[in-house]
Amino acid sequence: MPDHPSREQSARDAERAEYLDRLRGHLHDPDFRAIEGFPIGDDDAILALSDPPYYTACPNPFLPEIIQRWRTERAELRQELGLPDDSHDNGNSQIPNSKFQTPNPQSPITNLHSPPVYHREPFASDVSEGKNDPIYNAHSYHTKVPHKAVMRYILHYTDPGDIVFDGFCGTGMTGVAAQLCGDRGAVEELGYRVSEDGIICDGDKPVCRLGIRKAILLDLCPIASFIAYNLNTAADMASFEREANHIIREVENQYGWMYETLHTDGKTKGCIHYVVWSDVVACPNCSTEMVYWEAAVDVKNRKVYDPFQCPNCGVNLTTRSVQRVTETIFDQSLQQPAERAKQLPVMISYSVGRKRFKKLPDQEDLALIQQLDARPISSWHPIVEIPRADRYFKDSLHLRKLTHVHHLYTRRNLAVLAAVWERIANARCSHRTRSLLKAWFTALLSRLDYLNRYMPQHNRHVGPLVGTLYISWLSVEISALNYLRSKLRSFQRLQSVSCNNAVSTGSCTRVFDVPSNIIDYVFIDPPFGHNLMYSELNHRWESWLGVFSSTEQEAVVSESQGKSLLDYQRLMERSFVEIHRVLRPGRWMTVEFHNTRNSVWNSIQEALSRAGFVIGDVRTLDKKKGTTNQLFYADIAKQDLVISAYKPRSGFERRFLRNAGTADGTWEFVRQHLAQLPITVKQDGALEIVAERQPYLLFDRMVAFHIQRGATVPLSAAEFYAGLRERFAERDGMFFLPDQVPEYDRARLEAAEIAQLALFVSDEKSTIQWLRQQLDPATGGRPQTYQDLQPQFLRQLHQARHEVLPELSEMLEQNFLQDVAGRWYVPDPTKSGDLEKLRQRALLREFAEYVEGSGRLRRFRTEAVRTGFADAWHRRDYAIIVKVAGRLPERVLQEDPDLLMYYDNATLRMD
Ligand SMILES: C[S@@+](CC[C@H](N)C(=O)[O-])C[C@H]1O[C@@H](n2cnc3c(N)ncnc32)[C@H](O)[C@@H]1O
Repeated sequence: MPDHPSREQSARDAERAEYLDRLRGHLHDPDFRAIEGFPIGDDDAILALSDPPYYTACPNPFLPEIIQRWRTERAELRQELGLPDDSHDNGNSQIPNSKFQTPNPQSPITNLHSPPVYHREPFASDVSEGKNDPIYNAHSYHTKVPHKAVMRYILHYTDPGDIVFDGFCGTGMTGVAAQLCGDRGAVEELGYRVSEDGIICDGDKPVCRLGIRKAILLDLCPIASFIAYNLNTAADMASFEREANHIIREVENQYGWMYETLHTDGKTKGCIHYVVWSDVVACPNCSTEMVYWEAAVDVKNRKVYDPFQCPNCGVNLTTRSVQRVTETIFDQSLQQPAERAKQLPVMISYSVGRKRFKKLPDQEDLALIQQLDARPISSWHPIVEIPRADRYFKDSLHLRKLTHVHHLYTRRNLAVLAAVWERIANARCSHRTRSLLKAWFTALLSRLDYLNRYMPQHNRHVGPLVGTLYISWLSVEISALNYLRSKLRSFQRLQSVSCNNAVSTGSCTRVFDVPSNIIDYVFIDPPFGHNLMYSELNHRWESWLGVFSSTEQEAVVSESQGKSLLDYQRLMERSFVEIHRVLRPGRWMTVEFHNTRNSVWNSIQEALSRAGFVIGDVRTLDKKKGTTNQLFYADIAKQDLVISAYKPRSGFERRFLRNAGTADGTWEFVRQHLAQLPITVKQDGALEIVAERQPYLLFDRMVAFHIQRGATVPLSAAEFYAGLRERFAERDGMFFLPDQVPEYDRARLEAAEIAQLALFVSDEKSTIQWLRQQLDPATGGRPQTYQDLQPQFLRQLHQARHEVLPELSEMLEQNFLQDVAGRWYVPDPTKSGDLEKLRQRALLREFAEYVEGSGRLRRFRTEAVRTGFADAWHRRDYAIIVKVAGRLPERVLQEDPDLLMYYDNATLRMD
């Protein structure tokens, strides 16, 4: 039944037509088409998908207008809610600069001049919460962060009306989360309390106000932005359901016969649910052909044998040793003969009435399949080659000679899909309804291709292997007709959202056309290095849309795309530079990151700092407990990380640049950094040491901040530590601004205990920190003898293979002092300067040997290289850094954040 457009709809159609005209104009402009990350597709395909102004299947040229409207609405809303005007809050204010200034316990930050309106501490919580939600499950994607998890972040960092940005938005969960921050039920479901007048509280602690936040969502892949648009745009659900049901009825009538099978009673017709297909393989010993299912699967006992025996010669076979048998068929879509791996149907699951049955395919079933293979598909379907260079093509598809997207489906599923797609295109409904129908269609695709697997061990079928294009020995054809209904049910559970978020398709390396300093908060979940090639995985879905991802800017490490870790780092850095540009000063970005390698993690850290961000907190997630832990020089391989980074306030950046390379600049940095850090972190009643407040991390952050801005570091470590004590208040080995102390002291009195940080001791630097923790009463340690320390040290140590680690006694002598009873203790800051000088001299002597030598250094003292690099940086002798870096093993350089930072920046200066 056709939609009868309401007056509102007609107005919307007219508005869309006007914007489409404007978009068409942009598409004719070669400069517009030259924007980085511009998808591959002709004008018609891009226009057909787009729903301007809010969504375009290319960079969105209407963002400036949308943002301007949102900013006006935001200002009005803030006034209405009694929130202070923060339009000029770009942070020209100063943080108190001495511990002797009187703190004001009433305000979170005491400022002498205009205090910043906005202040939030870094925040981290579980990012996997809410995976059972209908919105989360409506459309699958290769990795997703559930919107419920993102909501907690948005509630923490923003107020109603704020604009949130996600530059790697995938399916747009960040936008859904932003919307639902205005939904009382959704907020309460997370365990927050919402008062009558809309104040959201976590326990007794007020968090923010109830209210919708706006989101700008960007992704390189057209399929991702298309899903994001559909989950973030109001729709007429009744019209959608009506049209979908109508289409289902039509295709059922037309194609129902393709999914019929004869019941074992020999007369009743059953409806197919799924068919298991097995590869046909050949024995390498006697060349006998066999159906893998028959040779290797014991259905009754739910076993798959590997190895299994050749039924002819009895030789032991494995999936590695057998050969795939191929056959030549006539490809009706390509209208030419084609070779493909031979598969045969081996089991059919069907129902008669409400009862389910399984059977072996009979002659009629086989004849039907032959008939379908020979039958041309009259409706349009993509006849598109899968790029041969793609990693997944090379990994698996080429083995089966599956060269085109249409090869991924059985002929009957392809016939039904093509018919549904054609009916969607011709449906007499609004563009919005048509788009939702297309999203329902693309949501079907991942369960209707050969990538779905059958598991005899579990006596059922499971979905595709996530994150690859792998076809197993036993694949499953799920009935497209059945699945249409089942997916419709999951879409029916979607509640249409009440307002529109803005969606753009392009690269985060060029956030077109968002003005600078406008975004209130950023949440991103970028690709993590080598893991997934989104564009390659999305290609088969995008072939239906007719608009494809441009891969040049895709932030991945990829052999097929010719991108190294360094290329990935550069793309991430350029994305961070753009995010830094659009983010308001003093505001936060959360980077959710699943780490697979230390080197990738270091690339991200380096890219963040180079873009101008300062890392305020890094946490690892303990998914089992749903808790987070601080990351502190730990081995982070294979953990989920939440990185909180902020853009320094612009007043501060200006002052720093004036004072860069001076002690004043250093202390200015420390002051503003301390102001951003959490004052207390509590977990299970215990107060945690905030790693970022410890002198070593403060020193590291300070050094990184200088180096990324090309400044020399004016203070040695000893001078820095001594200066810290003079200027800031110390508690439990951490440093605080004067006005932060009362809150910490209060929390300390209430806390059951202070939880120490677990250190991962792998080299000289972490050994010294560990020793300090053991010996310093300020961090819960005490003076100890060598005999006390040595056994504990050996237990802690995980020494890297390349590391030349001095003896424990030597490290004690170089960094600590001994009392008359032979106990080592942490020297008074005034004395540690002399010790440091001595140690530095020794380290530089060692470094000089690395400078003079040639060839690869297999084992070396990393601390000597760090000290040598710092010294060379100070003298602006970048060539030495590059030379010694060239002698280090590549892996060590990539995995050590300090070395990488000096090396990258030295290369940059030399260039
Ligand atoms: C981990 S996924 C994001 C998933 C998302 N959080 C969700 O819940 O659906 C990362 C996304 O980054 C996108 N991407 C890769 N390179 C990009 C670039 N240069 N600019 C924008 N997006 C990019 C990929 O297409 C992919 O959709």
